[in-house]
Amino acid sequence: MIIKRAKGLSGEVSIPGDKSISHRSIMLGSLAKGDTEVYGFLQGADCLSSIRCFSQMGIDIENDKEKVIIHGKGLHGLSKPTDELDVGNSGTTIRLMSGILAAQDFSVNVTGDASIRKRPMERVMKPLRMMGADIKSVNDNGCAPLFINGSKLKGIHYDSPVASAQVKSSILLAGLYADGETSVTEPYVSRNHTELMLKDFGSKIVTNDKTATVFPTEELYARRIDVPGDISSAAYFIAAGLIIAGSCVTIKNVGINPTRDGIIEVCRMMGADIVVDEIDNGSAEPIADITVKTSSLKGCTIGGELIPRLIDEIPAIAVMACFAEGQTVIKDAAELKVKETNRIDTIVNNLKAMGADVIATDDGMIINGGKELHGAEIDSKLDHRIAMSFAVAGLNADGETNIIGSECVDISFPGFYDILNSIIVK
Ligand code: S3P
Repeated sequence: MIIKRAKGLSGEVSIPGDKSISHRSIMLGSLAKGDTEVYGFLQGADCLSSIRCFSQMGIDIENDKEKVIIHGKGLHGLSKPTDELDVGNSGTTIRLMSGILAAQDFSVNVTGDASIRKRPMERVMKPLRMMGADIKSVNDNGCAPLFINGSKLKGIHYDSPVASAQVKSSILLAGLYADGETSVTEPYVSRNHTELMLKDFGSKIVTNDKTATVFPTEELYARRIDVPGDISSAAYFIAAGLIIAGSCVTIKNVGINPTRDGIIEVCRMMGADIVVDEIDNGSAEPIADITVKTSSLKGCTIGGELIPRLIDEIPAIAVMACFAEGQTVIKDAAELKVKETNRIDTIVNNLKAMGADVIATDDGMIINGGKELHGAEIDSKLDHRIAMSFAVAGLNADGETNIIGSECVDISFPGFYDILNSIIVK
């Protein structure tokens, strides 16, 4: 994909459904009794991997794009798949599903693509083993492929060393089947979509500050789910609208769950012209239309509890920081190293290729803004968020930017380039 400087961005965009909520809708819908209808489901490759895995375990899932219907079979309704389960590129599928698989009455092998087979799984295997799970890394390297032999589980309390919703959710989902209560305490609160959806599906779940506790559950009940737009996908339009001269962009129906809205806080810290117009949808997952206009940004420091609230938006925020006056420090974000790629490296190396003043640190990066960027060859390493963030950078750079592996945006945002094109001022 070749990207050239844009004169400005103008108009309204609708973005695809939230990836995290879409995954969870398939998992809880499969484990619930009855039909769960999902509107706004993200048709990205990652969420289609979740559909494929649960279909392989005997769940009938209809996907006509407009809506997804999951014919759930109850908590004990999954059956042993005939083949191994392949999660593709999806960390959410493998980690959350492992918690469910740990409690089934069958054994299964789970694998994924080259990126997944390098990502740490010990972070979920350890607490699941404490619950009595029989789960191992087939190559004994802490990564997929995994062999999971379903067992009887017991409730635990787990003090998680990382603020990770995938770890927390894996344990809570296993906890549905455990005897006794299961709780997870995190260093900072991570996204709480599992907790909110479990409550909606009728499970007893209590949250208190950084701890979530689930109680053994007899039944989950099917329901309708309206998936909000993904703030992680909105991030590219927020960043582009703020940095490209002559822009005004409205992004419709964006999920603004407070455990996910860190980018809005950062925009405000940077002095951005951003208006968040909340829409009353009566749901535990709030939504808003977000409007951004070209702004003079200033650098800021991003760390601590903010990090889990914007972890997936850091590539887009790093691009914004290049156009801000002064220094932006991103710290406490070592988790970036274990995403689809080592995002500290992929962000810093590609920004340097475009002429930015940026250095990698152990737990983030330091960006000195204000240097003009020029086009370059960007190696996305097939990381969807890197491809999209650098497409945005390319729109505000001299010359041509060539995104290698640009098609990987389909992981979380099919149609990304078309939507971006539709608002470029001609
Ligand atoms: C996700 C949690 C986050 C996030 C990922 C989706 C989820 O990962 O980066 O894209 O849906 O639970 P971690 O739990 O590893 O932080």
